[in-house]
Amino acid sequence: MTDLKARFIAADVEPNSAPQFRREFVTEAGHGDVVSATLSLTALGVCEAWINGVPVSTDLLTPGWTSYEWRLHYVDYDVTPLIEEHSTIGIAVGNGWYRGRLGWIETQRYGDEIAAYAELRVRFADGYEQVIVTDEDWTVGPSAITSNDFYDGQSIDARRRDDRWKRPGFVDPSWGSVHAVPYDGQLTADPSWGSVHAVPYDGQLTADPVAPVRRVDELAPQKVWRSPSGSVLIDFGENIVGYLRVHVQGEAGTVLTARHAEVLDDGELATRPLRSATSTDRFTLSGQQDTFEPTFTFHGFRYAELTGWPGDISEIQGCVTAVVISTDLPRTGHFECSVPDLNQLHENVVRGMRGNFIDIPTDCPQRDERLGWTGDISAFAPTAAFLFDVRNFLTDWLQDVALEQTHHDGIVPYIVPDILKYASTPQEGAGASESAAFWSDASVWVPWALWEAYGDLRTLEASFPSMLAHGRRVRSLLSASGLWDTGFQFGDWLDPDAPAEHPGDAKADPGVVATACAFRTADRIRATAELLGRTSEAEEFASNAQALRAAFRREYIAAERIHSDCTTVYSLAIVFGLLDAEQQRWAGERLAQLVEASGFHISTGFAGTPFIADALTSTGQTSTAYRLLLQRECPSWLYPVTMGATTIWERWDSMLPDGSINPGDMTSFNHYALGAVADWMHRVIGGLAPLAAGYQRILVAPQIADGIDWARTSLQTPHGFAAVAWSRTNDDITIEVTVPEGTSAVLRWPGNDETELAPGNHNLTLPSPLSLNGISRQ
Ligand code: BGC
Repeated sequence: MTDLKARFIAADVEPNSAPQFRREFVTEAGHGDVVSATLSLTALGVCEAWINGVPVSTDLLTPGWTSYEWRLHYVDYDVTPLIEEHSTIGIAVGNGWYRGRLGWIETQRYGDEIAAYAELRVRFADGYEQVIVTDEDWTVGPSAITSNDFYDGQSIDARRRDDRWKRPGFVDPSWGSVHAVPYDGQLTADPSWGSVHAVPYDGQLTADPVAPVRRVDELAPQKVWRSPSGSVLIDFGENIVGYLRVHVQGEAGTVLTARHAEVLDDGELATRPLRSATSTDRFTLSGQQDTFEPTFTFHGFRYAELTGWPGDISEIQGCVTAVVISTDLPRTGHFECSVPDLNQLHENVVRGMRGNFIDIPTDCPQRDERLGWTGDISAFAPTAAFLFDVRNFLTDWLQDVALEQTHHDGIVPYIVPDILKYASTPQEGAGASESAAFWSDASVWVPWALWEAYGDLRTLEASFPSMLAHGRRVRSLLSASGLWDTGFQFGDWLDPDAPAEHPGDAKADPGVVATACAFRTADRIRATAELLGRTSEAEEFASNAQALRAAFRREYIAAERIHSDCTTVYSLAIVFGLLDAEQQRWAGERLAQLVEASGFHISTGFAGTPFIADALTSTGQTSTAYRLLLQRECPSWLYPVTMGATTIWERWDSMLPDGSINPGDMTSFNHYALGAVADWMHRVIGGLAPLAAGYQRILVAPQIADGIDWARTSLQTPHGFAAVAWSRTNDDITIEVTVPEGTSAVLRWPGNDETELAPGNHNLTLPSPLSLNGISRQ
């Protein structure tokens, strides 16, 4: 606990609305000028604050989502310029993750009461500090927000709006008999506003190290039209996460309803994929010019349907904006190449990441989930760590992984923060009864991805206990044969050959997938222990990894085949290092055969997809990897691009080739997991990879095959800017490389020795590997 002294204050007003808390104060005389003022702010719920009517920040959804049972962030705002002699602090609190719906069952909520928490420290010239804290002296009143929920949307009644509550001297008879405020700062609660009471909170308050959620973009309608059924539809051109900001004037009491969806079906808004999330905002007009901005909700959408627009629909274009929100992470990595569809795929990965990094890494942003599914980030962490600076973001989330794990006796739950632990029956999706491969492995794979990207040992140090607990838990689950082949597994989730309603029915044997993952996990814990100088744990996990590798080979490999003989099992075995050199050779060949047999269509699910391209290129099957990547028929990475996708879909065929929506129950159009191929694109097409953690040493090794003529990749590494740009000219490749100061790089080129590249810029011309291979350019 920090030395913050405030109390959480709640209100007994309209359970579904967003209560507003206020407090007036006068700066104490006799201490000279105000030199600084800091507001520490948090809430059980999500909050926004103003001082004298001015927002203290542009942040949204403060304080975000942590495992609230144990940990709650607060944020410090410098509010020095906002302090006047007589000031008002106002705080509005919404349900957010705390009291709003979470998951697909009704009971999963953290608490019944949302509450505000603030401490304002005003420092004067003589060093004196005046402190104003939330306590029973505050007052509370109803807001114009009559309901708010992430899944179900927000309702705002502009007739109830009166912004004077945010300023000193607020008196409004419609709010009850508010009295004039004495200048001595002594405020008594007005009974018509209701009183506040303190709410106990046993968790820890920690300063929020994570970038805030903010408005990161705004989109104008691309098209406004009437659907076949007559409803008014808007297309914003991109599948985004956020809400509509609406400027409108109409008869008082008119209700304008906005529904949201990612896709259309038969020309109408397709809401089935949202499942129970109604994603509906309702705006009641005041009769004056109104602006509505529902900042206590968010939706995943490209299309909106408006009902009740008071004027001509041609006015919508200039009055409605889609506001894009995301955790405002610094962008670090970029990629571009000669194939426009691949660039669109890459852009879709970036957009999908934006929409799913809303304070925590989520599976999807639109339906009744939006949860921290661990498997999804297991797949995506390396890509995320290249595209944006996610060091604080994911390090912070890993703290919750560790806390939840402690609560679950070493089991890493499938979602973090874990709300499934409140489900009472398995039908409701009751929490992780046991660790599952790939999902629970996030506790090891995510810190490792951060280590590779940023080279900061503290990340590994902080996660080490959680890594160890997970590794040991998994070891306790191995059967007598040394395999992880019992118990529940998600396996190669969403294999494209699995039936729509049975996404876990993959071609890959779940034991093969789980044992391969267990090996990778044990080996990463071993490597971490070595880095941290933890000799006995390094030995423990070295022998654990060896035993898993031996068991895998003994039980699952026979006659140059891996059990269940499908692309995912070869991909994992090759990339995770389960094979010796000879096995690696035939496994690469078999993998290439299987890819060819599938007509170069993708045939992997969540587990295999992040690794299949690497498995091919690391075994010399480069042209097969490129043919797989450049496939445009369903299923493939580029198929959604041909269907106009602007984000990565959950299923390879979330939309079927005839334009209808996959009938499965889980059909999101914004899931980042299958976009994990971008990591390979950066390293292997782009040729920019870390050879030592944090890009202290850089590997420049683009693998060039037919189909791509140039690529440009860059990254703001922890040491500075790095870039690789190559292009083909006849039989030559020209390559430009920027190596940051304080690092070194090595250029690896077929037919050449390795070339050392010192910090600075390099410009080289090299023979094309295609001509070296005797493959001429078409
Ligand atoms: C989520 C996934 C998740 C999966 C695991 C889904 O409903 O959206 O992305 O990993 O469940 O079962």
